[in-house]
Order: sequence, then structure tokens, then C-alpha cells
Amino acid sequence: MSNETPATLKVSPCAALCRADGLDRRSFLSAATLAALAVLVEACGNPLGVGDLGGSYGGPFTVTLASFPALAATGGVARVDGGNGAPTALVRTGTNTFTALTLVCPHQGYAPIDITTSGFYCPNHGSQFSKTGSHTGGPAFGNLPAYSTTYDATAGTVTIARPA
Ligand code: FES
Repeated sequence: MSNETPATLKVSPCAALCRADGLDRRSFLSAATLAALAVLVEACGNPLGVGDLGGSYGGPFTVTLASFPALAATGGVARVDGGNGAPTALVRTGTNTFTALTLVCPHQGYAPIDITTSGFYCPNHGSQFSKTGSHTGGPAFGNLPAYSTTYDATAGTVTIARPA
């Protein structure tokens, strides 16, 4: 009787798994890395700050400016979604220009974040954003996602292209 170890026990666990699944070492490590990143994203919320938080945003809608006195002057900000769909803010950036921003924090999805005198603040972990949505502090890794707007000066309305 021989004391030799069977050949299969001399193979690393990784190599054994790769062979069992028909993967080469590089493919196995790539799949393992992607799986680890998926776990990290799940655990950390949305660390890339891309604003893709899943679910429905509610689609485009039109805002009547006369209903929001805060938007009469440049620099004014108001929450304008009326409770329908993803919370959305409209910022008057000029006489004829507006920026629409989600009020869903790109860090871990807290909503709605607060409107402040200087921009936006997430009370969940303290991320801060300027009035144009730029990240200015806190743990979020990115800006507030913006939606395109169309201003109708005659009608006094702004249509916000919020995703469906
Ligand atoms: S959810 Fe963490 S800072 Fe907003």
C-alpha cells in the first residue's frame, strides 16, 4: 500500500472549483471579483453615487411656476413633485433657466433630502449638495442626478423630464 496523496488533493481549492465549473483560473477570479463587488454595493447602498436606485421615478411632469412663489426669483428652490413619484426639486438658475434635481440621496437612497439656504442636505449621513446638485460634503460619492427641463415662458411652466 502506498502513502502517496491522491493527485486531486494536491490541487488548490480554487483550481478544483474552476475545474468543477469548467472555468479557467482567470475566469474564476473575474467572477469572484464581480460577486464580491455586488456584495459590497448591496452592503454600502450606492457607493458610486450614480443615482440608479431602482424602482419607478414617476415619469415626466409639468410645473406651473405661479404655484411655487420660491421660484419667482433666480436662486429659488422648491420641491415640485406634489408627492407623486420620486421627490424632485426645481431650482431657478436664471431668468429663463431651471435645473431639476432628484431629492433622493445618491449615497444610500434616503428621500426626500432637505432643501437648505445653500442647496441640499441629507439628514441620514450628512451629505451636502449645492443648488446645482454638486456634491460638496459627506459620504456620497457623486452629485444629485439632474433631469432636463423645458421652460415655456408664455405658459409659465417648466416640464421636467423625470424618468418613468
Ligand atoms: S443616505 Fe447617506 S448621506 Fe444620504
